[in-house]
Amino acid sequence: MSKRTIIAAGNWKMNKTPTEAAEFVTALKERVKDANTEVVVGVPFVCIPAVKTALTGSDIKVAAQNMHFEDSGAYTGEVSGAMLSDLGVDYVIIGHSERREYFGETNETVNKKAHAIFKYGMKPIICCGESLEQREQGVTAEHVRYQIKIALLGLTADQVCQTVIAYEPIWAIGTGKTATNEQANEVCAIIREAVKELYNTSVADQVRIQYGGSVNAKNAKEIFAMPDIDGGLVGGASLKLDDFEIIAKSG
Ligand code: G3P
Repeated sequence: MSKRTIIAAGNWKMNKTPTEAAEFVTALKERVKDANTEVVVGVPFVCIPAVKTALTGSDIKVAAQNMHFEDSGAYTGEVSGAMLSDLGVDYVIIGHSERREYFGETNETVNKKAHAIFKYGMKPIICCGESLEQREQGVTAEHVRYQIKIALLGLTADQVCQTVIAYEPIWAIGTGKTATNEQANEVCAIIREAVKELYNTSVADQVRIQYGGSVNAKNAKEIFAMPDIDGGLVGGASLKLDDFEIIAKSG
């Protein structure tokens, strides 16, 4: 089958005020309007309204960086699917290693969030990836296969076809140490094979699998060209207009 649409998603993490965010995406939308990729900005909750307003008339999609799986209730500080959907959010990033490390995210809560995201008409970007210790122990494949198996539990084939999976080796996040193209593609292929086993070949061919971990303007094109990689989930480089423009046009 022909290559799937490349998705270039920025994960800004805890960066940019609403004013800075609106200024950034106002400039970005002009620079990437002719891009062949699907461009996504993953912004802090507080920036979403200003970013959505600034992106009026643009194809750039907006992602939240987290979401609670309950519809509403006594969950101080959390946001619900209804709230994000009401703001016009397109994607929700879940299971990021920083959420797992600092905020207790688990494979099980990722699964609950995935169901809630679809319930409110949005699509999940499900993060997975191994630690350096797991890679050195040779258990990367088992680890990411298990993460994906639990994350996708109970999702329909159609929902998985709409899902984006982001393979982010923890040892490559924020370190400047990018996985080699072969390493990245190998694990993305393992993830695609796991989806095939859980569903079927058609679903495995349609699901988009991104690589994340020190993607930058220099390496994006070769990474995105790998057969089992359908784009990138980009941290630091997505905060720089020139760099993210190049990355967004690397598909
Ligand atoms: O979610 C993407 C992020 O974890 C990657 O960060 O700075 O290595 O591109 P960075």
